[in-house]
Amino acid sequence: MNHENYTLIGPFTQILTMANLPEAGPITDEELEVIEEGGVVVCDGKIKLIGKYNVLLKVAQEEHYKLEKISEPMVLMPGLIDSHTHICFAGSRANDYAMRVAGKSYLEIARSGGGILDSVRKTREATVVELVDLLKKRCDRHLNEGVTTCEVKSGYGLTVEEELKMLEAIRLVNKHHELDLVPTCLAAHMRPPEHTDSNVYLQHILEELLPQVKEQGLADRVDIFIEDTAFTEQESLEYLTAAKELGFDITVHADQFSTDGSRVAAEVGAVSADHLEASGDEEIALLKEAGVVATVLPGASLGLGMHYAPARRMLDGGLCVAIATDWNPGSAPMGDLIMQAALIGAAEKLTIAETLAAITTRAAKALNLTDRGCLAKGTQADMIAFESSNYKEILYFQGKLKPTIVWKQGRRV
Ligand code: NIG
Ligand code: FE
Repeated sequence: MNHENYTLIGPFTQILTMANLPEAGPITDEELEVIEEGGVVVCDGKIKLIGKYNVLLKVAQEEHYKLEKISEPMVLMPGLIDSHTHICFAGSRANDYAMRVAGKSYLEIARSGGGILDSVRKTREATVVELVDLLKKRCDRHLNEGVTTCEVKSGYGLTVEEELKMLEAIRLVNKHHELDLVPTCLAAHMRPPEHTDSNVYLQHILEELLPQVKEQGLADRVDIFIEDTAFTEQESLEYLTAAKELGFDITVHADQFSTDGSRVAAEVGAVSADHLEASGDEEIALLKEAGVVATVLPGASLGLGMHYAPARRMLDGGLCVAIATDWNPGSAPMGDLIMQAALIGAAEKLTIAETLAAITTRAAKALNLTDRGCLAKGTQADMIAFESSNYKEILYFQGKLKPTIVWKQGRRV
């Protein structure tokens, strides 16, 4: 067989595969598969072989594979997956931030017409080209920091045309950028100022927007923000049920300040419920029962100066916990996945294994992706390497150790 397109990459001091881990519940570090002095063979964007470097080198020499030599001590792991972001937006909300640190709450700012609606105004004013440019820059930064798959929501348009404009910008960037984007329609982020009745707005979105989103292949996922300042439990339940019937996967902004959202997520069979800062044992049990992935968003806790979601209790309650940045102009402006994962891990007492799984294999599950999140034969060759000989240093340095090399589908970027 002709194997001249095969490339052996290595040796790596350690390869942390993140393979064969429990899909939900606690994980000990001892359960992690670590290949010492390992190598990976890639071809056509996929992993063909993974194992001990010296064994793979023999095969490579016999079969004339190309060699990509790693000369420094390095730890290799799967590319990171950020399963919840709002990085398609225009403008800055530094003024909101200043008001919040001076004592005003996020919800107070929202009620006075600032907050999300301020980003809506600025995003509506932007052209598709401007949005593409802004989104592309954020994708560059994420990819550099090791994120190889990233979910991006609409939700700052809030009219049929403006939501389509945002989804089109996401589609355009996805087409040309090495970072894989997973688009989500969040037209139900808030009731826009032009509407006085939430049900009328949601019905309008269901009839006029979602069929177009489906037809044009702009997104397979629908999200909603369930909160006092956004949509109620009843409104959300009807909207999401109808969206599911149209064939969309469901994800929910749930339990950020109050607890109706997780009940809705469980009832509609959402893929994930995200935020969950306000969740307690009752909500955890509901999500567990319904098999909903719990995505916690430490960036929003840091941005709003509030407590983290109870990730430890969630894992002990048997949930599959993912960690994502929620990178957005308002509540979570930082957008640094490793740093945020390390910080919630330290505060919530998550094992290294639990935290790293939450930004790789369990984040893949939050996006219903089965071809990535771990390094194994057949998975996408999305990989990142850190200058280190001990995988524990990735979180130990709390975000200051960044990957030195990033491969997207086997190609160095
Ligand atoms: O996940 N909570 C609702 N939506 C976003 C915030 C968006 C914004 O503030 O612009 C979130 O935190
Ligand atoms: Fe969000």
